[in-house]
Amino acid sequence: MSSGTAQLLAALFVAAVMGYPSRRSATDLDATPRTTVTFDELSGVRRFSTRTLNYTTLLLEDERSVLYVGARGAIFALNSSDVADGSHRMIHWEASPEKQLDCLQKGKNNKTECFNHVRFLQRLNSTHLYACGTYAFHPLCTSIDADRFTLPSHFEEGKEKCPYDPSRGYTGLIVDGGLYTATRYEFRSLPDIRRNLHQRPLKTEESPLHWLNDAEFVASVLVRESRDSPVGDDDKIYYFFTERAGEETTSFFDKSQAARVARVARVCKSDLGGKKILQRKWTSFMKARLVCYMPYYEVLRSVCSLDGGGWPSTVFYAAFTLSAQWRTMEASAVCRYSISEVQRAFEGPYMEYQDSARKWSRYDGTVPEPRPGSCITDHSRRKGYNSSQDLPNSVLDFVKLHPLMFEEVKPAGGEPLLVKKNVAYSRLAVDRVRALDGRSYDVLFMGTGDGWIHKAVVLGSGVHIIEEVQVFRDPQPVETLVISRTQRSLYVGAASGILQVPLATCARYASCYDCVLARDPYCAWDGRACRETASADSTVLVQDMQHGNEGCRNSTARGESAPPWVFPPRKNRMVLRGDDVLLPCDQRSNLARAVWLLNGTEAPGAGQDRLRVGVDGLLVMDTLPEHSGEYRCYGEERGLRTLLAAYNLTVLPELPRASATPPPRPPAASQAAGDMKVVYVSAITILVGLCVVLSAVLLYVSCLQKRKGKYILGEPRPSSVELQTVSANCLRKGRGSKEEEEDDEDEDGLAYPDGCLQIIPGEAPTAAVSPAKEPPAAAPPPPPPLPSELTNGVGALPNMLRKMNGNSYMLLQQQEEPLASPLYSASFTEELSKILEKRKHTQLVEKLDESSV
Ligand SMILES: *[C@@H]1O[C@H](CO)[C@@H](O)[C@H](O)[C@H]1NC(C)=O
Ligand SMILES: *[C@@H]1O[C@H](CO)[C@@H](O)[C@H](O)[C@H]1NC(C)=O
Ligand SMILES: *[C@@H]1O[C@H](CO)[C@@H](O)[C@H](O)[C@H]1NC(C)=O
Ligand SMILES: *[C@@H]1O[C@H](CO)[C@@H](O)[C@H](O)[C@H]1NC(C)=O
Ligand SMILES: *[C@@H]1O[C@H](CO)[C@@H](O)[C@H](O)[C@H]1NC(C)=O
Ligand SMILES: *[C@@H]1O[C@H](CO)[C@@H](O)[C@H](O)[C@H]1NC(C)=O
Ligand SMILES: *[C@@H]1O[C@H](CO)[C@@H](O)[C@H](O)[C@H]1NC(C)=O
Ligand SMILES: *[C@@H]1O[C@H](CO)[C@@H](O)[C@H](O)[C@H]1NC(C)=O
Repeated sequence: MSSGTAQLLAALFVAAVMGYPSRRSATDLDATPRTTVTFDELSGVRRFSTRTLNYTTLLLEDERSVLYVGARGAIFALNSSDVADGSHRMIHWEASPEKQLDCLQKGKNNKTECFNHVRFLQRLNSTHLYACGTYAFHPLCTSIDADRFTLPSHFEEGKEKCPYDPSRGYTGLIVDGGLYTATRYEFRSLPDIRRNLHQRPLKTEESPLHWLNDAEFVASVLVRESRDSPVGDDDKIYYFFTERAGEETTSFFDKSQAARVARVARVCKSDLGGKKILQRKWTSFMKARLVCYMPYYEVLRSVCSLDGGGWPSTVFYAAFTLSAQWRTMEASAVCRYSISEVQRAFEGPYMEYQDSARKWSRYDGTVPEPRPGSCITDHSRRKGYNSSQDLPNSVLDFVKLHPLMFEEVKPAGGEPLLVKKNVAYSRLAVDRVRALDGRSYDVLFMGTGDGWIHKAVVLGSGVHIIEEVQVFRDPQPVETLVISRTQRSLYVGAASGILQVPLATCARYASCYDCVLARDPYCAWDGRACRETASADSTVLVQDMQHGNEGCRNSTARGESAPPWVFPPRKNRMVLRGDDVLLPCDQRSNLARAVWLLNGTEAPGAGQDRLRVGVDGLLVMDTLPEHSGEYRCYGEERGLRTLLAAYNLTVLPELPRASATPPPRPPAASQAAGDMKVVYVSAITILVGLCVVLSAVLLYVSCLQKRKGKYILGEPRPSSVELQTVSANCLRKGRGSKEEEEDDEDEDGLAYPDGCLQIIPGEAPTAAVSPAKEPPAAAPPPPPPLPSELTNGVGALPNMLRKMNGNSYMLLQQQEEPLASPLYSASFTEELSKILEKRKHTQLVEKLDESSV
């Protein structure tokens, strides 16, 4: 057994024993985004960027309609209703040349580090903002008059407040005038949670125990627990971070590697420190382990919080990625925690470090009064402890040695909401939306490490990913996400710029079904269009968050009695016996199953040799005259079927003799002349997996591909078409549950280098191929006629391949007849040349068959 497998088994075993219960398997916890929106399909997005880089720090002031942005060497004030309207103001705040030189001499990177990265930007008081920057490893802070918006002349030393290193984990808040920050401040200094701008600055304790071990901070959240508190409790600030585990809970698979674990810590706002013991130190610091899924999902990446009106309903959403030892894999887990669960851990037993055994274990001795680490409440006040300075030494001594709680904070429901393979979430934001059913739904916006945003709605104990949207063409981590309900926008900060994305783009859903199946709580069908619920009269709207399939009765599920526009135009296909023909059918939804009806009855699918159903179409191979008939493609999702394409296929027993006036020319020539709408059929395959019926063909194509890397259809002619590997994953990493299939491939020895397939036009002199993607083949309403430059068909190939039901997949697309053109009889010569073209293809297929066994 390989050590990797052993590790995995050990980890699973320990996970089971140690109580990481998950009733659902990893596959159940995964979710495929329903729709995929690539960069070129984006709409309604506004972009702000200048020559400045690293738009990392965002401060939204909705009431003033301003979005402040801290970047590298600059602070911007943008109009939050349109960040790109050109009205922005800017403060240049670059590191001085002397400090930059200094920084270079310290051996820092002159391309990324020796600049003034603005890391902190918050409102200080009604007139001023407070900002801190790394200033080429000499952090500085300053207050900025928000109206004048100019760089002040006075700066404060920043080394207590802001990290030196621009990439260091950092979080900060201004709470009632106090500045609460957490990071590793100085070069080689220990990480710390500090309070500044306060009469009583505080820090964490470093001896005899470090309260924090190599902590990398992710987020801090203020919870106003003093509000309406029956016990006179204090406001608390919660910190989320990853640190080296002192306790040995996770180091089971590699003792040599110091395990890192996720933590939540908290301090009380009114903490003043101790008088003699813990002087200028927190007396209310407590931390607990934060668990989400398996113990190897330990790297906390982002936390966001939400409350439903009062602090007791506070929930935290957190995204985790795999620990460093799994760095060859990418996966994320998302969990939700309730504040009561966090409190439960802080009210439970403490851990204690045994010097003799050099390990942490549960402390079962007596606990002094008032309870160490708790805030000052009415109860303690009644006993004469008016502030932390009044606390008895026994309590402060206990606090010093018992920062860690025994109980772990478990996610709501005991398991993650989502476990997503091949995706590294870098940032979360959450909005709560009231849907038409009267319930509130949490909508998560999850930014990925490569510039995509997954928008998901939390439904019960799981999530439904409504869409994945590529917001940056150049892959880059989404660093900040901020939601504005007023502007109905999501602001996205990344290295290259700021984006303003609508919270919902309901108009993307073209039919009632599409709108309802999307289960987007922002969107509903008003009888004619899918629109935002907020902008329409809710009495006539159709939405079904709970089931995602009800309400569109007037256009029936099967589409037969639907209004005329729901019917895509019927297309004709005429081929010669023995040819292969592809009937394209593009499923808009990644969750839909393609269903083909042949003469009105369901296609036997994989059972029948000559029919291959893929998500992009149906391939009829080696056609016989019996294959003639009517073919209809439906997308089936949640029990609903929508008609997407319809074809009349005619298989001619033999080549009809010269009835057409211009004699058919060789296809290459005719192509070169550019007067023909030529069809390319291309076929191929990918995943072998469990689909035994497909395996013969798949195996064989795979082998070929492996041997040659690529091959050419037909004779090598100028207009030939090459097949190469590509897929959604070639556009970017990270679609769905690809992993298992990859594993299977490995076992079968059939792995593609990248598991991708692409069709690339050859060097045809006339191949005026447009990179434009063809509009969805036949989704209602009917797409406009194809532009003429697409007529050689090559440009119309889908640039994204999708896979279906995890085991079979096929790409294939061919030229559509221009929809505006008359029917078949009007262009018989073209059909003839198509037929000739097909025969070349057929020959290829035959050759493939010979070599396959
Ligand atoms: C911000 O944009 C909105 C709409 O585009 C406009 O009405 C408003 O005047 C702008 N505000 C500023 C300060 O430019
Ligand atoms: C950064 O340093 C490298 C090597 O030390 C040098 O080649 C490069 O010109 C420097 N770049 C800038 C912007 O100073
Ligand atoms: C806000 O803080 C700044 C900087 O400390 C100070 O100059 C200004 O007077 C304060 N404004 C108000 C209204 O307190
Ligand atoms: C700033 O942006 C550059 C260019 O994308 C990137 O290489 C660098 O890592 C970024 N630095 C930080 C601190 O985000
Ligand atoms: C605490 O405050 C109460 C009332 O404000 C006061 O009577 C009491 O003396 C104070 N106790 C201490 C120890 O300061
Ligand atoms: C559905 O059809 C009925 C009659 O056929 C009509 O009265 C009703 O308004 C329609 N509902 C919607 C949502 O279009
Ligand atoms: C469809 O029906 C026609 C005649 O109605 C028949 O010739 C043809 O074989 C049928 N096609 C299929 C695929 O069943
Ligand atoms: C397709 O075939 C059906 C039945 O064979 C026929 O009724 C229909 O008119 C044909 N459609 C076209 C566009 O030729």
